[in-house]
Amino acid sequence: MQAGSHRPVMIQAVVDALRPAADGVFIDCTFGRGGHARALLSVIGPSGRVIALDRDPAAIAAGRKLAAEDARLEVVQAQFSSLEAVASSRAVCGKVNGVLFDLGVSSPQLEAASRGFSFQQDGPLDMRMDPDSGISAAEWLSRAGSEEIASVLFRFGEERHSRRIARAICEARRKSPLRTTRQLAELVERAVPRAPRQRHRKSSSEKHPATRVFQAIRIFVNRELEELEAGLEQSLKVLMPRGKLITICFHSLEDRIVKRFMRAHSKPSLADEQIPGGPGPLLEIIAKPTRPGEDEIRGNPRARSAIMRVAEKRF
Ligand SMILES: C[S@@+](CC[C@H](N)C(=O)[O-])C[C@H]1O[C@@H](n2cnc3c(N)ncnc32)[C@H](O)[C@@H]1O
Repeated sequence: MQAGSHRPVMIQAVVDALRPAADGVFIDCTFGRGGHARALLSVIGPSGRVIALDRDPAAIAAGRKLAAEDARLEVVQAQFSSLEAVASSRAVCGKVNGVLFDLGVSSPQLEAASRGFSFQQDGPLDMRMDPDSGISAAEWLSRAGSEEIASVLFRFGEERHSRRIARAICEARRKSPLRTTRQLAELVERAVPRAPRQRHRKSSSEKHPATRVFQAIRIFVNRELEELEAGLEQSLKVLMPRGKLITICFHSLEDRIVKRFMRAHSKPSLADEQIPGGPGPLLEIIAKPTRPGEDEIRGNPRARSAIMRVAEKRF
């Protein structure tokens, strides 16, 4: 894979699930480097449209280059929570054939040390997908109380040593602020108990002890779960009848939100049951959750934890 590129996951499954009409309007909420958007553009006709969102200015810059070559693509710097506003301002609210969320971070985000997402490279402790808004990981860690830090590590990283790590962060910052990814990764390594870690890391594929901590802080700093909830809700307004909602999740916290959302909107409510012949629930789950095949995982280890869900708006 080239530097600055991202290998899209389950690309054919996404295209198959969308069953794109040649003149359809599609919203790719996670443009990244445009793998899914390109695949869609290659199957829709000259009057089809892809509106691509991303909150990351680097993704938007890459998208604008592609949009300059293909008038069917429009790229908008926006968050999931602006999905409805983006669709309304383009007069496509309620007229969209498919909405896609390919969640998480892109390879270029992870690989650029300057973005501070990865403990494998030393860089400023930032982790914002949009570096021009919100507060960086370093700023938050310099101010948050030990309880708050522990709660974030536990809720968003399912980190069982959350309190111990939070205390170590607060102690360390009394001497000097935590400014870099390496400082944080080393602090976590020192803070978590040694014996289980050694036992754990016998296998080379075993996670670094800072993996969960970085995931938790990233989710918190970017308000990822709130954004996902808002985006899913708004997709219901944006989609047309028979429009498809497709999600690809990479960890259980995201997938749980999607699963609950799809289930909640595809079950008849009490009110539905009281109106015989009424419209029934708004969504229908039209496919089983799908995982990438072994070949794809072999060629793209990032695909290992992917799970795709598809629902259709019924009316
Ligand atoms: C896994 S990548 C998508 C990759 C893309 N499908 C491709 O083929 O290149 C996820 C992208 O979603 C963006 N993103 C994540 N959360 C977002 C949000 N709440 N609003 C807008 N963009 C978001 C990230 O900045 C990142 O570029």
